[in-house]
Amino acid sequence: MTTRKPIRKAVFPVAGLGTRFLPATKAIPKEMLPVIDRPLIQYAVDEAREAGIEQLIFVTGRGKTAIVEHFDIAYELEATMNERGKDMGVLDPTRATPGDIITVRQQVPLGLGHAIWCARAIVGEEPFAIFLPDELMIARKDGGTGCMRQMVDAYQRLGGNLVSVLEVPHDEVSSYGVIDPGAGDGAITEIRGLVEKPRLDEAPSNKIISGRYILQPEVMRVLEAQEQGAGGEIQLTDAMARMIGTQPFHAVTFDGRRFDCGSKTGFVEATLALALEREDMGAEVRRIAQRLLAQ
Ligand code: G1P
Repeated sequence: MTTRKPIRKAVFPVAGLGTRFLPATKAIPKEMLPVIDRPLIQYAVDEAREAGIEQLIFVTGRGKTAIVEHFDIAYELEATMNERGKDMGVLDPTRATPGDIITVRQQVPLGLGHAIWCARAIVGEEPFAIFLPDELMIARKDGGTGCMRQMVDAYQRLGGNLVSVLEVPHDEVSSYGVIDPGAGDGAITEIRGLVEKPRLDEAPSNKIISGRYILQPEVMRVLEAQEQGAGGEIQLTDAMARMIGTQPFHAVTFDGRRFDCGSKTGFVEATLALALEREDMGAEVRRIAQRLLAQ
């Protein structure tokens, strides 16, 4: 098997204003909203680490400092917890190796493509991953692996560029990036084309990009010259579309569950689904849900 350059870096575009969750997100970044007791960003970072990613690059903006604080040592908190003999294990996922968290600023909200381009100097000349934390990807209950782990495994075999996809009802495709699928083999589908937020009658399929990417560094050069696309924004999808034909492009269908935490109902669904399977509260939450449904 060919040895590929490992995927060591991941970009997390987290500069968005989170207007859909106002007023909750007026003073708190959307990515810090918790699903039970972990903020959304923590789920994405845990998934990245499981996939072997070492360096986390947050593309942030004003008012997003809490995200970086979350992965820093909270000295007073730890000292107090220590004194009181509290279990510090809960803080383990928030620990970062010094130097492994890097932030860059996206000063103006020009779109996802522009956000990724803001990280170009840190990404350098390596293939890298992208995580959109709104998309909550959860491994199968019976010991499955996370979405990025599955993508990295596919990358070892295929190289090139990969996006995660899933099928949605046809009338929902206009909210997403959609692939034009070519030949398929199990979870892998060749990508012949990509279109961002197509009209229903122009959508090439119902397979949508679900917020995880492994891309070659050349995408930064394409983004540099990228013009505005859907919604007047600089679209990552458009830049990827221009690379098809010059580099391999494949879609990976995630074997696991996805919750769209960019919407309020998706957030409620994620909270309920994960609470129901938690050992420490599942049975109680089930009783509560049954009682509420019976009313
Ligand atoms: C972005 C991407 C889109 C992708 C989606 C997944 O859209 O541009 O291709 O399908 O995330 O959530 P946004 O949600 O920022 O409009």
